[in-house]
Parts: sequence; C-alpha cells; structure tokens
Amino acid sequence: MTNIKVLGVMIGTLAVYTWIANAIPQIESAVPEEVSFSADVSPAELVAAGAELYSGGGGCTTCHGLETRAPNLLTDYNGEGTIGQRCGTRVSGQDCKTYLHESMMDPAGYVLEGFEPMVFQARVLSGAQIWSLVAFLQDQGGVVTVSGSDVATAAEADAAAPAGGPMVASNDPLEIMRGNLCLGCHMLDGEGAELGPAFDGMGSRIATDRIRTGIIDPALEIAEGFDHLAGSMPPNLGDMLTARQLEVLVDFLAGQGG
Ligand code: HEC
Ligand code: HEC
Repeated sequence: MTNIKVLGVMIGTLAVYTWIANAIPQIESAVPEEVSFSADVSPAELVAAGAELYSGGGGCTTCHGLETRAPNLLTDYNGEGTIGQRCGTRVSGQDCKTYLHESMMDPAGYVLEGFEPMVFQARVLSGAQIWSLVAFLQDQGGVVTVSGSDVATAAEADAAAPAGGPMVASNDPLEIMRGNLCLGCHMLDGEGAELGPAFDGMGSRIATDRIRTGIIDPALEIAEGFDHLAGSMPPNLGDMLTARQLEVLVDFLAGQGG
C-alpha cells in the first residue's frame, strides 16, 4: 500500500513537470490547432477550418477512408451517398447538423450497423473545432447550416467548463507514453515500472481491441493476474489522448510480440 502511495506522489509530481514542459513550447505541432471565430463567421471559413482538422490534427483519417475500419465520409458509403447527403437520414428526429454533432459528442449514442462504436475523444477538441468539423462534413454533398451562434454557444460552454486536452503534442509512441506516464507503471524494453502488465509482448498476449479498451475503459476487463490492482490504471487516459495518439499507441502495443 505504502509503495503505491509513494508511486502516486511520484507520478503526481512527474505529471506536473511533464505538463509544464509540454504545455509551453510545442502545443501547435501535432495537436489540433485552436480556432477562434467571431459570431459572424462565414460557412466557408468554418468549412475550411474543419477540412484542415479532418485531415490533420483531428485524426479522423486514421480510421475514415480505409473502408474496413470506418465508413467513408467523403465518398459514397453503401449506396447512401456522401456524409452530407446521408446525415439527415440516420436517426429519426435528428436533422443533419444535430446528427453530425452527436456523432462526435456521443459516438456510442448511435452506432452504424456492422461497425464497432467509433472511439473518439471529443474532449480534446474545443466546441468551435467540433462545429467546424460538422460544417466540413455537411459540405460533402449537403448544405452547411452551422452558424456563428452555434459556435458562440459552444465557446461559452467551453469557457464555463474547460475541456481536457492532450498531455503531449506528439504522435511518436514513446513520447506519448512518456508524456502520459504509462511507463510510470508499465515496463518496455527495460524502461519503466512493474505495477501494470509489461508492454513487452503485449501484442501476443491480448487482442488489439482489448488493448484499445484497456486504455480507454480499463474497468471493463482487468488484465490477467492483476485483479488486486484493479482500479490503478487511470480511467481518464482516453480524455488525454487525441484520436490519432490513441491509435498510435494501440498499433505500437499490438506490435509488441513475445
Ligand atoms: C478510431 C477510429 C475512428 C476515428 C479516429 C474517427 N472515427 Fe468516425 N467512425 C468510426 C466508426 C467505426 C464509425 C461507424 C460506427 C459508428 O457509427 O459509431 C464512425 C462513424 C462516424 C460518423 C457517422 C457516419 C455515418 O455514415 O453516419 C461520422 C459523422 C464520423 N464518424 C465522423 C468522424 C470525425 C469527424 C472524426 C475526426 C474528428 C472521426 N469520425 C474519427 C471510427 C472512427
Ligand atoms: C498508475 C499506473 C498506471 C498508469 C499510469 C498506466 N497504467 Fe495501464 N495498467 C495499470 C495496471 C495496474 C493495469 C492492470 C489492471 C487493469 O487491467 O486495469 C493496467 C492495464 C493496462 C492495459 C490492459 C492490459 C491487459 O492485459 O488487459 C493496457 C492496454 C494499458 N494498461 C495501457 C496503458 C497505457 C497505454 C498507459 C499510458 C497512456 C497506461 N496504461 C498507464 C497501471 C497503469
């Protein structure tokens, strides 16, 4: 018990230093660029900002566009057209704008048949960024109805309850792991600690999907032999990783053979 407390203090201290080290210089690089709009922002400006996020820091193309992992959004899917054409037909009572917004704010609320629920951490994006993505997706074959007042309302909500955010601005697996203190508890290549199961060999012990849920929802299944440490794996890691960072970690760990 004492050991765990000491470790807790160490990790807390480390977290503060890492956060300070990372918060200042390089936040712009890999992490979605913050956008701020005035209330009279034009649809074209929103679409342009959304386009940049979609193929850049938003991490959407990690899954969308490969057919197998997620439905195409910019091209036809299943004969239903592009996302701007089909978005209003998904959930009865939800117009296109509402549906697209919900698909990011509450991805488990509606899951497209034949797919696993979308794993996506809205909290690493600001309300304005989410609305710019909605505008960009509406523009794929549909009409953009996102307005400056949607954006202004979301910005007010963010100000009242500041969003979480990524701990590091990097898409390098080791930097992500160090920045999120994974190696404070897990071993990799002789570096780290043995509180949690080793990253070495993880890909040959458990399935890729289990690695992903192990990170974003650790309480769902406890690692074999670690029942006595259930609850030690931080439950909020998903909120500190961008969608792309999560996938980088999952791919990296899945690639750790025996
Ligand atoms: C980890 C993989 C992954 C990432 C990253 C991801 N998505 Fe998805 N997305 C999915 C999957 C799988 C589905 C289908 C299952 C569902 O409906 O939840 C989906 C569904 C959607 C849908 C509904 C599609 C339809 O035809 O109704 C939208 C809209 C969407 N994603 C937008 C986005 C945007 C915007 C981003 C980036 C900010 C993003 N997604 C990032 C996997 C992903
Ligand atoms: C405070 C210590 C701690 C930190 C920090 C931590 N973990 Fe864990 N992790 C654990 C423990 C303990 C377990 C085993 C108990 C469980 O499954 O919840 C675990 C389990 C896991 C599992 C599931 C393994 C399995 O066999 O089911 C994965 C995957 C994982 N961690 C990845 C990560 C990643 C990636 C990070 C950093 C982003 C991280 N962990 C940070 C302690 C930690």
